[in-house]
This record gives sequence, C-alpha cells and structure tokens, in this order.
Amino acid sequence: MTAAGYSFPHKHLLGIAPLSGPDVTAILDQARAFEDVCENTEIKAISALSKKIVVNLFFENSTRTRNSFEIAEKRLGAEVVNFDAGSSSISKGETLLDTAANIQAMRPDLIVMRHSAPGAHALLARHIEASIVNAGDGAHEHPTQALLDAYTLRERFGALDGINVAIVGDIRNSRVVRSNLWLLTKMGANVTLVGPPTLLPPEIAETWPGVKLSNDFDEIIPGMDAIMMLRCQFERGTGQYIPGQGEYVKYYQLNAARMKMAKNDVAVLHPGPINRGVEITSEAADGPNSLILRQVANGVPVRMSVLYLLAGEKT
Ligand code: NCD
Repeated sequence: MTAAGYSFPHKHLLGIAPLSGPDVTAILDQARAFEDVCENTEIKAISALSKKIVVNLFFENSTRTRNSFEIAEKRLGAEVVNFDAGSSSISKGETLLDTAANIQAMRPDLIVMRHSAPGAHALLARHIEASIVNAGDGAHEHPTQALLDAYTLRERFGALDGINVAIVGDIRNSRVVRSNLWLLTKMGANVTLVGPPTLLPPEIAETWPGVKLSNDFDEIIPGMDAIMMLRCQFERGTGQYIPGQGEYVKYYQLNAARMKMAKNDVAVLHPGPINRGVEITSEAADGPNSLILRQVANGVPVRMSVLYLLAGEKT
C-alpha cells in the first residue's frame, strides 16, 4: 500500500510538525486507496481495525471532525466508544490525567481527542499506552484537517509542490493554519497568509521563514491557485482584534467581487463551520470553485488512513 521499504514510523499523530514529507505522502496515498472503499456502495466496512477499541474523547464542541472520525472508525470495522466531556466526570472536576488513567484501565487501542489546551495530547501520550490522535488542541494543531486539505488540493492540482495557496482571516486563533503551515511548507507549496495586522502574528515568520504575510487580500488574489478561508473564531476573542465586522467584511471577505479578481479555476476551501456573510459569502462558498464539501468527503478516507497506519492490521 505504501512505497517499497517504507513503514509508517509513528505511534501517535500529535501534529504535522513531527511528520516527514514521506510520512505525509504515505498518509495521502493510503487515503486514496480507502477512498475507493468509501465510494463503493457494496462495501460498507473493512476489517483493518476489527477488534480494536477506539475512544473518541471530545472536550470541545465538534460536528464535522467527530462524525468524520466515527464514520472512518466504523468503516475500518473498529469498536467505537464516544466519550462526551459534557456528560462525563470532567464536569465533576476530574483532571485530564485521572480521566485518561481511567480510560487506559479499560485498554483502548486508539484515543481520538479534542481538547482546548495546546499540548494536552503530548501529555496524554506520555501516560497512556494507546495511540493518540490529535483532533484539535487549542490554537496549536489540527493535523487531520491539514491532511484532508492537502488531500483535496492534491486531488485538484495533482501535486502540492509549487502551488500558490493563500490562507485568509483569523490566523491568530487558528489551529488549522498552524497544521497547514507545517504541511504545505514541507510539501513545497508557496503559502501567503492574509489578514489584518492584529490577526497576523509576526512570530509566524520566525517559525516558517518562507511564508509571506500580507494585509492586502485584493493585491494577492490574482496570483493564487487556492484560497483557504478561515472562520472568525469569535468564541476565542477574535472580536477584540478587529474594529468591527463591517470593516473586516470590507477588506477580508471572500465574495463575488473578489472571486472575479481570482483565476477562473481558483480552488476555494474552508474547514467549516462557515460564518456565512462574515468571512465568506454564499456565492463563494457554494459556487463552482468551491471544494468545501469535497474537503468534508475527503475527511473520511484521510482519517481512515491515519487510524490504519497507527494501529491497523497490515495484512
Ligand atoms: C476547525 C476547528 O475546530 O479547528 N473546524 C473543524 O475542525 N472542521 C476550524 C474552526 O472551528 O474554525
């Protein structure tokens, strides 16, 4: 399934930062093989994770990511346990490590976790035997989102090397952008981050020196092959960094007028959930250039691939 002589060397997926280019390619190639399983209506599930127990541990809200993981797990034949932090002992004051120790005592094979604390997964990985998959940790990383974005871009352009990608909006608060920065720069894409100065932390240039930063969306649009819009994360305080929504919309919303400035075949992406009428209008989100629902569809084979490479029976 993967290139001759290569075997996936990681026990956990804590972020994109620790992955090599060949690791990313292995995940995307394996996902391509699983896409056939997802699209074949005759085959509902395969047995690569049969008898394996996967715990989905979501301490933060999620619709798409959580459902996508659950479908991926079921398509691989795993036993799935959903642990909802709202209805768990967390709400009674149990610490993350105590919760983890209790879950570990039940011997799961894989834990898929979303948590508001950056680094929560790395902490868990030191105390637990199961493989840990990061489904989002604060504003740090969201590796499977970046992998499904990369898969969608590779499907559209054939390769990531050399494509011009703009990531636009609430860079400051976005874990999606951090995982995408690691991934796209490793794979040779040219990345431009766009947003108002207050949402574009200059330290980004220290960690990813090749990445361009711009406050002028209109100026960079014509040169882009793909435009990835980010949600304004008002629940993380984005409102305090912008003068007002009207001002933000004027300069940074992807709308019909800006679509006209772009290449005819520009690809439009958004990780969801969309704030329609804020960072993107319906014309751009639902128009012919939009790959947004393709991203959602691709999330399933990409997550199957990650789970399989970490813990699957390689027969
Ligand atoms: C993102 C997230 O939760 O990090 N959404 C997602 O996983 N599909 C982005 C966001 O919430 O804006």
